[in-house]
Amino acid sequence: MTKPLNHFLDIADHSAAHLRAIVDRARKIKAARAGRPRGWRDPGEPLKGRILAMVFERPSTRTRVSFEVAMKQLGGEAVIITANDTQIGRGETIADTARVLSRYVDAIMIRAAKHSNLMELAQHATVPVINGLTDRTHPCQVLADVLTLEEHKGPLAQQTVAWLGDGNNVAASWVHAVGRLGGRMQLGCPAELSPDPAVMDWARAEKAEVMLTTSPEAAVANASCVITDTWVSMHDTDGARRHNLLKPYQVNAALMNKAAPGAVFMHCLPAHRNEEVTDEVMDGPQSLIFDEAENRLHIQKSILLSCLE
Ligand code: CP
Ligand code: NVA
Repeated sequence: MTKPLNHFLDIADHSAAHLRAIVDRARKIKAARAGRPRGWRDPGEPLKGRILAMVFERPSTRTRVSFEVAMKQLGGEAVIITANDTQIGRGETIADTARVLSRYVDAIMIRAAKHSNLMELAQHATVPVINGLTDRTHPCQVLADVLTLEEHKGPLAQQTVAWLGDGNNVAASWVHAVGRLGGRMQLGCPAELSPDPAVMDWARAEKAEVMLTTSPEAAVANASCVITDTWVSMHDTDGARRHNLLKPYQVNAALMNKAAPGAVFMHCLPAHRNEEVTDEVMDGPQSLIFDEAENRLHIQKSILLSCLE
């Protein structure tokens, strides 16, 4: 029997021990780089000679740059593929694309328009596939968030994390993270924009400590971390309706004051300033947003190594 591929498709697919090892290794990778120039290669260049293909069906700043820099610093290379500039944009199937790319590269990262595209790619690729965001989940982001939160507040298992606004792809991966690594999550979402019921069913089945409310105040009560995200994600088409539903869930100084003393603020970015979060919170002393962005680099190195070593 052939060995299963080391895909990284979702946090829920992995054991707590594996996820913990990824986060802890990322912390060590980050520490080793402290004070070094950007072009400094990680010791031993463990991915020398390896090539990552990055397929983008949606735009990206952080995911694109952090994965490419991660590959370079680990000694490897990255090839960037924008779906519309390839035959995918003219209807070649994801399955055939997976088979072709697998003949050229050692791993494939995809930012997929639909979760089913990620799954089709993973099913037909013969090299590891990494989820760089779908309409349903964003696991690389949330492991970077866990690393960031733990740097500032200690173990996730001791935190209460409040999620405000849309119960979207990032929220779903956060539910998975709490289900696997512990801690408590309090989601404050309008009923119409609650997380996918399948995600909440998963949380119940896993006995994860996940609470869902429509009250922003109840969501932030005792929270050591408050998180939000854009009201209109890349796959959403109903912007005006979402703005109306989500206005009461804006993270502002008044809401932050209702969280636990010393609570931190996180946002995966890009943010729509003064919509889901005010400038005052984004740029205030509680904000960890740029540490989060930096940590995408360190966590993705650790994910790449777990897939490719
Ligand atoms: N947070 C995040 O994934 O950002 P990009 O869309 O810029 O990649
Ligand atoms: N929820 C956002 C995350 C962007 C990184 C989106 O899907 O557009």
